[in-house]
Amino acid sequence: MFDMTHNPTIPSPEKFQETAVIGSGAMGAGIAQMLAQAGCRVALFDANPAQAEKAAAQLRGIWAKLVEKGRMPQAQADDCAARLNVAQSLSALAQADLVVEAIVERLDAKQGLFKQLESIVGPQCVLATNTSSLSVTAIAAACQHQERVAGLHFFNPVPLMKVVEVIAGLHTQAAICTRLSQLVRDFGHAAVTAQDTPGFIVNHAGRGYGTEALRIVGEGVADFATIDRILKDQAGFKLGPFELMDLTALDVSHPVMESIYHQYFEEPRYRPSAITAQRLAGGALGRKTGQGFYRYENNSAIWPVEAPVPAVSLPSSVWVSPRAARRAELLALLKSLGAPIETAARPSESALIVVAPLGFDVTTVAAVDQLDAGRTVGIDLLLSDAATQRRVLATNPATRSDMRDAAQALFASDGKPVSVIRDSGGFVTQRVLAAIINIGADICQQRVCTPADLDLAVTLGLGYPKGPLAWGDAIGPANVLEVLFNLQTVYGDPRYRPSPWLRRRGALSLSLTQPD
Ligand code: NAI
Repeated sequence: MFDMTHNPTIPSPEKFQETAVIGSGAMGAGIAQMLAQAGCRVALFDANPAQAEKAAAQLRGIWAKLVEKGRMPQAQADDCAARLNVAQSLSALAQADLVVEAIVERLDAKQGLFKQLESIVGPQCVLATNTSSLSVTAIAAACQHQERVAGLHFFNPVPLMKVVEVIAGLHTQAAICTRLSQLVRDFGHAAVTAQDTPGFIVNHAGRGYGTEALRIVGEGVADFATIDRILKDQAGFKLGPFELMDLTALDVSHPVMESIYHQYFEEPRYRPSAITAQRLAGGALGRKTGQGFYRYENNSAIWPVEAPVPAVSLPSSVWVSPRAARRAELLALLKSLGAPIETAARPSESALIVVAPLGFDVTTVAAVDQLDAGRTVGIDLLLSDAATQRRVLATNPATRSDMRDAAQALFASDGKPVSVIRDSGGFVTQRVLAAIINIGADICQQRVCTPADLDLAVTLGLGYPKGPLAWGDAIGPANVLEVLFNLQTVYGDPRYRPSPWLRRRGALSLSLTQPD
């Protein structure tokens, strides 16, 4: 029998033994914990020695707690504690074969540190940076041996966020990335490999969610809470985009939006919003200041109450556009709700007219199909109704209020929540998912990482229910393309321009997750 798991011609990468972490704040302490748990000796150094001592004491406390909870044997905790020590000076790190820096996020500081380290450590020592927004190549540029510098990007809190980006700078030796990836796997996290590009994988892929939601709010289509409810109930996000921005705080998230936008030389897909710039200036930072998009009391968001479903009689009959997305499903839903369905080619004089466009706005559909706009409402059926916990209807500027109320009452009659928003093209879920999938596809197009690493990094690093590509495959690349093409027509905005990666797969009926 062959052992398929072991190939004797490929030696496993050389393990790091003597490691050092510089900067012992939130990130450095967590990184030191992981290295010690992976069996490395770790020297912790901080410009503020008291901070390093504090972090080391905290780590010993964490290991003691893990033993108490039965999640780590005493002997292992003792070994981890024995492997960790506090270095009093940089020169004490001369024996290190890996140094990870987690100091202040400033290019000059990181360059200066690595330059200084090169005069202390041996020629084989790998220098890794935990930078989240600077270029690894630019940090390495100050070094004599740029080939030994790589990015090792952890997420906060380090032990719980089970993914680490291993970043190859322009001159980084491939073997160093292989060794770093193995190290990450040794402490039980997933390693994903990224090219040195702005935002790497996770912070780049995360651009679609907040920015598109902000655009929808900025157009007055729906308010913050409605958008959060829709994206949680329809698409399954754990936090709505505005809840998330409140948690991260705008003094962190707005500068990240600006930085990635500018680093990509004003690429429209990443364009930030004037809304967050203004709220940042006004100090409405989020949860930590008690006031963000939501107001916080006792650290809990105060959610505006949803308006009750209008107590009106249901429409006398319903006519469904022959071009509606998921038309058969929509007809079955209406039947299950007990609605009298019209089957003629054109609606009667009194029917509620239901359209379900992808990307297009309800107004355009009504005008092009010569429907009575006063009786026309749209429903978002990008995703199957059965898979969602909320329905979303859109009115157009001419929709009569009695027709809007009757439509809401009908679609809410089985108890499912219904949000009614203004017309915009693409509703909320279509716009936000299409933006996320399109940016994800473009990350693959740019060869920042493999399709598999993209989806893994996004699910673990951002906590989305699906990776952008798996989502695109579930919806169908051709449907995502249709949403984007139509949004581009409605808005004339290049931010909806589909990535070539998406266009080709849509045209060839290939999955987005398939590498090429
Ligand atoms: P922090 O402010 O909590 O800790 C930084 C520590 O570095 C401080 O203890 C400080 O005394 C020390 N320090 C600063 N300059 C130094 C120098 N020249 N030499 C030695 N020690 C120095 O910062 P945090 O949040 O731990 O971030 C550290 C790095 O990790 C930054 O580059 C940041 O961008 C990156 N990062 C942060 C994440 C986060 O969520 N906080 C996530 C991923 C990366």
